[in-house]
Amino acid sequence: MNEETKRGSYAREKGEVVLREHEFDGIQEYDQKLPNWWLFTFYIAIVWFLVHWCVYYYTASASTDDENIRGAMVEIQQKKDRELAATLASLDDTTLVTKWATDPAITAAGEATFLASCAACHSADLSATMVVNNQPIPLPGRPLNDHHWEYGGKPMDVFKLINEGTPVNAPGYNGAKMQAWGQVLSPKQVAEVTAFLISKNPEDFKN
Ligand code: HEC
Repeated sequence: MNEETKRGSYAREKGEVVLREHEFDGIQEYDQKLPNWWLFTFYIAIVWFLVHWCVYYYTASASTDDENIRGAMVEIQQKKDRELAATLASLDDTTLVTKWATDPAITAAGEATFLASCAACHSADLSATMVVNNQPIPLPGRPLNDHHWEYGGKPMDVFKLINEGTPVNAPGYNGAKMQAWGQVLSPKQVAEVTAFLISKNPEDFKN
């Protein structure tokens, strides 16, 4: 028996509070057994950990975080595909020109999307230039008010180009390609922004 245990037992027999030998800056530490209920929860946690570890890593009954995330991603992609299919089903050249592009609420929503996501490269006035010291500086995007539609001048061609971005084999514009906005915007937003562009170029999209 060492000195500490003796001190401890002695104090315990006397019913006194047991303190550890050391002291730091006047701070002392109790030397008491943890209550059984506390130890019990601790042992349960150890058993739970072992069972959980084995079930999670050595049986196929629980799916891992990785599998959960992959499953969720597939679901999101399927939802997007369904949404796109639904939007495309109701959308054609005529509907875009006569219904969407003439509805002020739709073109306003399209303009808001355009200012937030597109104006950086195509400029708010669609000219794809920025004026600095009275000098027009070209921005990376194509002008959207020059009556030239590189990838087809039908409303659905424009929708497709915005949705899917520059086609894989196309050289782009001055070497710059555009991303597929369908990855970022919903099909509805792409249709709205297309309607906005049509409303700004009515003479290009006369039926
Ligand atoms: C990071 C710069 C950038 C942003 C942001 C951007 N674009 Fe583009 N956009 C380009 C480039 C570069 C091209 C030319 C691509 C090509 O020729 O293949 C282009 C081409 C286009 C075209 C084809 C124009 C034509 O003359 O045929 C359309 C339409 C268009 N963008 C619409 C949009 C819309 C709508 C958005 C916002 C949702 C957007 N762009 C955001 C860079 C951008």
